[in-house]
Amino acid sequence: MPAPRRSKNTRSATLERSNSAAAAHALEQRLENHTARLAVIGLGYVGLPLAVEMAQAGFEVVGIDIDEKRVRQLNDGRSYIQDVPTADVAELLRQKRFRATTDFSALKTCDTVNICVPTPLSKQRDPDVSFIVAAATEVARHLHRGQLVILESTTYPGTTDELVLPMLAESGLEVGHDFFLAFSPERVDPGNPNFNTRNIPKVVGGVTPACTKVAVKLYRQRLEHVVAVSSPQVAEMVKLLENTFRSVNIGLVNELALMCARLKIDVWEVIRAAATKPFGFMPFYPGPGLGGHCIPIDPFYLSWKARASGFEARFIELAGHVNGHMPDHVVDLVLEALNQQGKSVRGSNVLVLGVAYKADIDDVRESPSLDIMEKLREKGAKIEYTDPHVPSIQFAGATLKSVPFTAAQVRRFDCAVVATAHKAFDYDALLEWSKAIVDTRNALAGKRSPKIVRL
Ligand SMILES: NC(=O)c1ccc[n+]([C@@H]2O[C@H](COP(=O)([O-])OP(=O)(O)OC[C@H]3O[C@@H](n4cnc5c(N)ncnc54)[C@H](O)[C@@H]3O)[C@@H](O)[C@H]2O)c1
Repeated sequence: MPAPRRSKNTRSATLERSNSAAAAHALEQRLENHTARLAVIGLGYVGLPLAVEMAQAGFEVVGIDIDEKRVRQLNDGRSYIQDVPTADVAELLRQKRFRATTDFSALKTCDTVNICVPTPLSKQRDPDVSFIVAAATEVARHLHRGQLVILESTTYPGTTDELVLPMLAESGLEVGHDFFLAFSPERVDPGNPNFNTRNIPKVVGGVTPACTKVAVKLYRQRLEHVVAVSSPQVAEMVKLLENTFRSVNIGLVNELALMCARLKIDVWEVIRAAATKPFGFMPFYPGPGLGGHCIPIDPFYLSWKARASGFEARFIELAGHVNGHMPDHVVDLVLEALNQQGKSVRGSNVLVLGVAYKADIDDVRESPSLDIMEKLREKGAKIEYTDPHVPSIQFAGATLKSVPFTAAQVRRFDCAVVATAHKAFDYDALLEWSKAIVDTRNALAGKRSPKIVRL
């Protein structure tokens, strides 16, 4: 029987398919032999470590940021991210494996683009995706055949498909054939000595199976574990589950801490003993409130999206409520500590230890310390802070400098508040030098003194 004749349309469709397969194949080859050129947009806590890792894998990486000062610093061989050594940046520059720029036309010659821009909340506490839109606009302008685009910014489920894809598809290029698009949440934990960009498993969900395949291929060139999921929405939701899990459990333990205070039970001892259970329990600790760019913000991306489809995310809202109240509780503890000395908060000198949002890092974003300082200032306290990682902050419309952690300085204050338990603080000395201490982190665990008011 003669072979059926293929129509011209079928032939061109076949040709297109094989061109598409060729685009994916060529990109995979360039990734495998490390001749691909990589771009990372947004060189902050997430983007810079990623750019450095990929450059260390042997790729030529260009980092793009709108912040001229950051770009200049990097091109001078200096890092501004604590987890990225300056020596690494300098060495990669010398090897011509890394450079930074503010010029998005660099994307024209790049095979892959990772978007790592901020995703804050608006004043109304709704997702502010304007940074993603700005970055995707530039990517769309320079999109070309065979390019892989991966969004890494934490965001609500649907962002990649509903927001980014239409912007890129306006080019006329087809996703999964001409270009590749995926979402891969970043899980970096600044200051964590055990886990970093390289050894934290990376979840990846592509818009099509071909997109997932090339995105996985990219990360496998450097990262130790890559976990493929079926879609960008799943990958987006994974990140929000992780951060909501943290927020809700911290909310639970914060509530338990308030409850224990009423019942005169030591919550820290309770958690310590509960944590001896070898299964089915994971310790979370109370504190002065949530901080950082992720846990206080990301769950609200999810509740916003849920609300848009008529679903009320009650756990998220409740945890937000409990955690958001903690700075007020700390203020009450300061009042109690001052009261024990017969002092009122108005006119008292209060020293806050630690303004970074967690121990041993320099990031003050959303830090509850700032909230506590502001609330105490409003009540008339004279506030100063000490933090070896944060030399100065903007506070009450002025620049406030960190006070040195010395006997002479600490003795000036009526009350010290341990808001962030940096390892660098000497807590024995703090106990000796202070008139009163509010310990929100159990940093003075095991020490007994009437000076200490514990959360
Ligand atoms: N910091 C963390 O620990 C962490 C962890 C996991 C996920 N994330 C998520 O990763 C994303 C980035 O967070 P980050 O902490 O790295 O933020 P960051 O503020 O440290 O860095 C973002 C960088 O993007 C730049 N930028 C802003 N708009 C830009 C644009 N249009 N084009 C190019 N550059 C632009 C900024 O100048 C800045 O240098 C956020 O979605 C965040 O939620 C952060």
